[in-house]
Amino acid sequence: MDYRSVHRRSIEDRAGFWGEEAARIEWQTPFTEVLDYSRPPFARWFVGGTTNLCHNAIDRWLPTQADSRALVFVSTETNEERVYTFAELHREVQRMAAMMLALGVARGDRVLIYMPMIPEATFAMLACARIGAVHSVVFGGFASVSLASRIEDAAPKLVVSADGGSRGGKVVPYKPLLDEAIRLSAHKPARVLMVDRKLAAFEPVAGRDEDYAALRATHFDAQVPVTWLESNECSYILYTSGTTGKPKGVQRDVGGYAVALASSMKHIFRGSPGETYFCTSDIGWVVGHSYIVYGPLIGGMATILYEGTPVRPDAGILWRLVERYAVTVMFSAPTAIRVLKKQDPSWLSKYDVSSLKALFLAGEPLDEPTSKWIAESIGRPIVDNYWQTETGWPILTVAHGIEETPTKIGSPGLPMYGYDVRLLHEQTGEEVGANEKAVVAIVPPLPPGCMQTIWGDDKRFVSTYFDSIPGRQVYSTFDWGIRDEDGYYFILGRTDDVINVAGHRLGTREIEESISSHAAIAECAVVGVADALKGQVAVAFAVLKDPADAATPQQRLALEGAVMGVVDRQLGAVARPARVHFVNLLPKTRSGKVLRRSIQAVCEGRDPGDLTTIEDPGALEALKQTVRG
Ligand code: PRX
Repeated sequence: MDYRSVHRRSIEDRAGFWGEEAARIEWQTPFTEVLDYSRPPFARWFVGGTTNLCHNAIDRWLPTQADSRALVFVSTETNEERVYTFAELHREVQRMAAMMLALGVARGDRVLIYMPMIPEATFAMLACARIGAVHSVVFGGFASVSLASRIEDAAPKLVVSADGGSRGGKVVPYKPLLDEAIRLSAHKPARVLMVDRKLAAFEPVAGRDEDYAALRATHFDAQVPVTWLESNECSYILYTSGTTGKPKGVQRDVGGYAVALASSMKHIFRGSPGETYFCTSDIGWVVGHSYIVYGPLIGGMATILYEGTPVRPDAGILWRLVERYAVTVMFSAPTAIRVLKKQDPSWLSKYDVSSLKALFLAGEPLDEPTSKWIAESIGRPIVDNYWQTETGWPILTVAHGIEETPTKIGSPGLPMYGYDVRLLHEQTGEEVGANEKAVVAIVPPLPPGCMQTIWGDDKRFVSTYFDSIPGRQVYSTFDWGIRDEDGYYFILGRTDDVINVAGHRLGTREIEESISSHAAIAECAVVGVADALKGQVAVAFAVLKDPADAATPQQRLALEGAVMGVVDRQLGAVARPARVHFVNLLPKTRSGKVLRRSIQAVCEGRDPGDLTTIEDPGALEALKQTVRG
């Protein structure tokens, strides 16, 4: 089939195209309208249809593959390996669902999941989906202040958590961070369900905390039927960073999401029922939601849940798992590949990875050397794909399930069906020509699977995403891009203050707020700086209340460590800046806006650009000297 004509049809005949794609999932009652776009930019897909994500992920597969693998849990941290068939997963999810109901969770209530990569985290997500509760998974690498703001915004009735996780052989206790987050939050969840892995001892809070193992025993034989939900009810909230310090709760629906994922499994990932999918992301990120949990299972595939790093016990671990489970579809991030590139290359040839149809990489720009190196090393096709927490599934890639369109190194590819992608001039809003840099935008309605709104804040949804480009109501990705003569897109970094550290999306404002809470700091600026391994790292520039606090190199070092410690404790080690420089002044415009792009340019040794609005040119010069040390 000709991909470009499929794409054209998906835009020109949305109802026809998505009406057909909708047949890839099971509906309890059919929808009456494919798309209701009477209130732009809010799109409602498959109106009136009722379905359930958990039904499509598990129950639907019971008649044909109850005893096939559904969830494979591998932890190289605790040396565990457990396989759950669809029938077993069905039982575990019903137990978890029964526990949630017993703890007072009802349809529409929020359940916050703060968990390491263990099967119970997946059970919790699917159990919420089953009973119509709204889950909000918070990445286990986030610490108490990040967690508190999410608890406050989502107002969960229940939190599901664990005593701890483990990374690189080091135990990370979760419970103290959770207790502190609940203390900080104005909203107090009524109950906390604790999975005790016996990694980190903790004190349960009487009357609030419940032990998972004990409660599971009392609900061992539970049968919990699925709750049929209207397609546009909310399935989950996933917080993501933007320009302000307050994370946005990306809200997703039920039917549109299920259809988009089922469709992407077929057309983009080419996975078939009975095969195995291995995604190395984390359930705390959107890639984990779509392509560890929901996508593979909705596609009838087994999914591997991996707790561990790509290099422990050795750099062959990922490929060993591919061989052992005959993985056909693999999904990872460029950073993981760059980590492997530093290891002994013989690990890559030790295992038979011929089962792989392709390795998909996303989350950050895939640089040419990394792309070539991994393609040559594993001898399998590499497919870059570009998308966002907001969209839930790829915006740009190649749909090899439709047509074997060629890939181009450095480009994620072409607009996916359903996405009307344009490159618009930042100031005029006009479309630009080939090879001209502009903002990557999407003409609404957004396709199924994309965010419905920002949780609890329709106004912010419209003003954040649809009001930034002059003259027209279009969705801004806040990414720069160009398109070549063949229609292939290239992504050139963010237009806003979001940075991407090892594929983790972080807001510089959040980090700045955290640093500023240190008593010695008057103000600060955080920028993302190019890094050979992580893509970007955060670098902070802080102005002290009293410059005498960092007069000597020893004082500077101690204070830098103390500031990093604050970020570690409040936001988590993922957000910790690589460097904290102390300066006398931040370069600002005359209206007081910090010139982050110029600071970033200086850090990367580039031309700082137009400085006509700068208040004090000496500030940038001094900063340059500090960076050069
Ligand atoms: O800047 C783009 C970058 O990551 C952002 C989205 O991050 P997140 O919400 O965490 O979702 C990740 C889903 C894969 C984008 O705005 N990004 C993501 N994929 C790519 C990318 N940049 C370049 N190439 C990619 N393939």
